[in-house]
Amino acid sequence: MKRIAIIGLGAVTRNIHLPAYASLVGRVAVVGGCDPDAQARTWASGHGVPAVFADPGEMIDRTRPDIVAVCSPPDFHRAHAELALGAGCHVFCEKPLASTLADADAIIVAAEKCGLQVVVNNQFPAMRIHTAARDEIGSAAFGRLLYLHAWHTMRPTAHTEAGWRGAMQRRVGMEFGIHVLDLVRFFFGATPTRILAHMPRPDASVSWDAINLVAMDFADGRAASAVLDRLSKGPERYLDFRLDGEHAAIHTSIGGQVRAAVGVHTRQRRPFVDLRLVGGGRAVLEQGNRSRVLAADPQNPFAPATARHFGAFLDALDAGTRPPASARDNRESLRLVFAAYQSAADARSVEIESFAPPPPDLTR
Ligand SMILES: NC(=O)c1ccc[n+]([C@@H]2O[C@H](COP(=O)([O-])OP(=O)(O)OC[C@H]3O[C@@H](n4cnc5c(N)ncnc54)[C@H](O)[C@@H]3O)[C@@H](O)[C@H]2O)c1
Repeated sequence: MKRIAIIGLGAVTRNIHLPAYASLVGRVAVVGGCDPDAQARTWASGHGVPAVFADPGEMIDRTRPDIVAVCSPPDFHRAHAELALGAGCHVFCEKPLASTLADADAIIVAAEKCGLQVVVNNQFPAMRIHTAARDEIGSAAFGRLLYLHAWHTMRPTAHTEAGWRGAMQRRVGMEFGIHVLDLVRFFFGATPTRILAHMPRPDASVSWDAINLVAMDFADGRAASAVLDRLSKGPERYLDFRLDGEHAAIHTSIGGQVRAAVGVHTRQRRPFVDLRLVGGGRAVLEQGNRSRVLAADPQNPFAPATARHFGAFLDALDAGTRPPASARDNRESLRLVFAAYQSAADARSVEIESFAPPPPDLTR
């Protein structure tokens, strides 16, 4: 049984981490939490966090955890990860790993120097729909993955833009694009070699990166694209992927919706009625007009995915192996995010290999 203590007792701790740890009965116990905000501490005390503190150092000294979860805003991730590593703890860090690649590298080097693990909670690959889609790649029905497109549409509100998030100019790519680019690497099993991004500002009252248009090329000619749009006043679609394979397509979708369609398949001259209830998420294999559901996720897919992702971290600690989404691996996804911003700023494509290479691997 591993002991975990949590730095930052805000939304991600309440909605994702505490439910995830609670579902891993007998594998992990929450021993403490800390937050400078008194209200956050009061909430945590009333919701099963046995010891709460204002100061992270005091929390670690008093609760002696094996793992520290870093759930503070991104600007604090480096300081909090280094504090935990310095105290001999492994780290389960929220995404993005850090606010800069220099900070990410400092975390990686600190962890490798002391032989401890840092895992980033980019948990989307552990959602059932994404795991099922990836497992289908290479099958007889789907074949090789050739191209994928990702699409996100969300309407910001005063609530979503409150606090530290609303102060970020590089917000959509850093906060959300990191999940999308991480999934692109997960599906292809490779990192794109070139990225071209455009971040237009069609609404002069919006100073941040509300639209991210990103195109990616792989060394073997395969490609991916992503549209992240937070200006649309239309219906929200949290995240859809369309994966085009040699023999079929896979459509994954996160976000509750009911869709009804009535029409005629023109080639077969056959009428159809299609009612789809999409709860948390769904992955569908599509060949022409035929479709087969591959997997579904519950209404809140984030906490169960974090539980599976964290479970894999615990497995790796037991086995002495490198866990999935280790800081060094996840840095490649973060590198893509920064390369996208660089590309948009320079209005030209960026070659990934020569863009901010990672520090030498001290474990080799
Ligand atoms: N993986 C996911 O699906 C997911 C979802 C949401 C948020 N996140 C990430 O989780 C992190 C936190 O996001 P959030 O939505 O919980 O934000 P939040 O603002 O709701 O919570 C952050 C908490 O950190 C506390 N905090 C601020 N400074 C601190 C310090 N110096 N020491 C300790 N605590 C401090 C704040 O008081 C607040 O309670 C971010 O990195 C965010 O990107 C990840």
